[in-house]
Amino acid sequence: MTYTTKVSEQLFAESKHYLAGGVASTLRASMKPAPLFVESGKGAYVTDVDGNQYIDYLLAYGPLILGHAHPALEEALSKASKLGFTYGLQHRGEIELAKLLTEILPCAERVALSGSGTEAVMLALRLSRAYTGKTKVVRFHGHFHGWSDTIFTSFPSTDMKQSAVSAAASDSAVPGTNGQSSSSLGDIIMLPWNDAAALEALLDKEHHTIAAVITEPIMCNNGCIQPKDGYLQKMRELTAKYGIVMIMDEVITGFRLGTSGAHGKFGLSPDLVTIGKAMGGGMAISGVAGKYDIMKLIEDGTVSHLGTLNGNYAATAAALATLHELGKDNGSSYHRMEQFMKQLADGIRTLFGKHQIQGLINHVGPVFHMMFTDQSSVEDFTAFGKRDAAKYTKFAEIMLEEGVLVRPSGLWYISTVHSEADIEATLQAVDRALARL
Ligand SMILES: Cc1ncc(COP(=O)(O)O)c(C=O)c1O
Repeated sequence: MTYTTKVSEQLFAESKHYLAGGVASTLRASMKPAPLFVESGKGAYVTDVDGNQYIDYLLAYGPLILGHAHPALEEALSKASKLGFTYGLQHRGEIELAKLLTEILPCAERVALSGSGTEAVMLALRLSRAYTGKTKVVRFHGHFHGWSDTIFTSFPSTDMKQSAVSAAASDSAVPGTNGQSSSSLGDIIMLPWNDAAALEALLDKEHHTIAAVITEPIMCNNGCIQPKDGYLQKMRELTAKYGIVMIMDEVITGFRLGTSGAHGKFGLSPDLVTIGKAMGGGMAISGVAGKYDIMKLIEDGTVSHLGTLNGNYAATAAALATLHELGKDNGSSYHRMEQFMKQLADGIRTLFGKHQIQGLINHVGPVFHMMFTDQSSVEDFTAFGKRDAAKYTKFAEIMLEEGVLVRPSGLWYISTVHSEADIEATLQAVDRALARL
C-alpha cells in the first residue's frame, strides 16, 4: 500500500478553521509531509488517522518514557476517574509524590508541583530572585527553558517555524517570538555553554547583580552535547562562592537518565532542579525541587506559587505510577533503554559508513541526537549549527514512510517498552531511508 497522510492533511485543514494554526503547540506545525493526526498509541507504537503505524521515538517530545497507554498508568488513571481528577484541595498522593521525590532526587529537600516545564522554570527563577535579592539570570546559547517571556530566546531549530535569528555569537538575548517585548529579556545574560572561563569572567565581574545561573545538565535540545569534564562542578563552585542560585533544568534529563536525575548521576548538588516531561509519563505535571532554605520562601509566603491544577489527583497518580515503574528492580529498565539506544546508535553509525553518508550521533544513555555533518565531532552549539538540518528533516520525512516516527530536529528518545525487534526493524528502516536519501 502506498504511504499517504491524506486524512491528516484534511484534518489539519479543518483544524485551522477552529484551532489557531491548526496545532496546539507551534513546533508541531512544521512536521513534513503533514502534521500527523493520531488515532491511537499503544506501547512503542502510534497509529495515525490514515492507518499508518509507526515505531515511536518522538514519544511526545519526551514524556512517554513508559510508551503509550502503559498498564500501570491505565490503572492509576482509571482509579482517578472514579475518585475525581482534581479537588483544589490537598490529598495524600501529593505528600506521597513529594516524599518520593525528596528520596530519589539528591538535591530535593522540598518540592513544589506545577503543570509544565515552563511553569517550573518560572517558579525556579522567581525563587532565585527572592532568595538572593538580585535580578539577573545567566543562561546559555542552545539551551531551552520553556516559552515564558522572561526566558524564551531565539534559537535555530528545524522544527520551530519561527526559528529566525541565531544569536549564538551575541551576549544579548534575542526574543524567541514576535509579541515578546525586548524588555522581557532585560534580566537575561547569554553565555556560550561549556566555557568555564567565560562564566568565571562574567561572575567575577557581575555577581552582585546575578540571582541565578540556569543550565541543562546536558545540552539535550541542541545536539545532546555533554558537559566538559569539571564544567558543571566549576559552575557549582562559582555560584556557591558568589551566592548565586544554581538551577539545573532537568525537564528532559530528570527521570530520563535515571531516577536521581542528571545531578544524581553526575554527583552534583545544584540549589534547585526543575523536572517535568518523563515524570508524568504523558500527564501534565512538573515541579521544582531543591534546598529548604530557598523552598521555604514558599512556606513563609515570601514567594507566591499558584496554579489551579497544581498537584491534581490524576496527574499525581500518573507521576507516582511512572516513578514506581521506573524504580522497579533498581532501575533496570534504564539499563535496557541504554543498551537499545547504544545498539541503535552503533547500527546507524555503521549504516552511515555503508551508504557513505557523513553523519554523527551524540549519544547519552536513553537519548541521542542524530545529525548529518562532515565534522568529526559536534561538541558545542556553533558546531551543531553547521549540521545539515534540512537533510535531516528530509530523512525524518522518509522515515515516516518507512514506519518510524522521529522528531524532525534529530533528537531520539526511547521508552521502556521498545523491544529488540523494534530496534532491528528501526535499523532496517534507517537502511532503506539512507538509501533513498
Ligand atoms: C530543558 C527544558 N526545559 C523546559 C522545557 C519546557 O517544558 P514544557 O514544554 O513542559 O513547558 C523544555 C521543553 O522541551 C525543556 O526541554
